[in-house]
Amino acid sequence: MKDLKQRKIESDKLRSLIGRAMKQLTLSYAPYSHFHVAAALLCEDGTVYTGCNIENASYSATNCAERTAFFKAVSEGKRTFSCIVIAGGRDGKTVEYCPPCGVCRQVMREFCDPSKFQVVLARSLEDYKVFLLEELLPESFGPETL
Ligand code: THU
Repeated sequence: MKDLKQRKIESDKLRSLIGRAMKQLTLSYAPYSHFHVAAALLCEDGTVYTGCNIENASYSATNCAERTAFFKAVSEGKRTFSCIVIAGGRDGKTVEYCPPCGVCRQVMREFCDPSKFQVVLARSLEDYKVFLLEELLPESFGPETL
């Protein structure tokens, strides 16, 4: 627990990351579910990649906000990450916390240490919950398992 507190990113940095995710919500493409999701991914070098959900008429080709952010970052050469903020809700209203789906948790697992990577579920700049990836994906299958 002490360790987690020490690693916790400073609250003003976190506020700015939440702000980036909230702003990204307006870009969500969700004409089918009307459930808008956005993410802001903080790389270890301090750079930030945002993402939104991008739906598709076929439904199954939909990409979640978190994976959009990860794929943008990885495709630009980033490989190490500290934290992701996720915000979302029906019509873009962040009334509830928006937890990441199982596929997105697994994508995080590919690139992040589950005992260090922080997943922040935000409803507003002041209202958020912080988890470690290992809490959201216990006993996980990762690159070292192979
Ligand atoms: N969605 C995300 O973007 N991230 C998640 O982790 C959960 C679900 C999106 C996919 C779809 O566009 C909409 O939310 C409803 O499932």
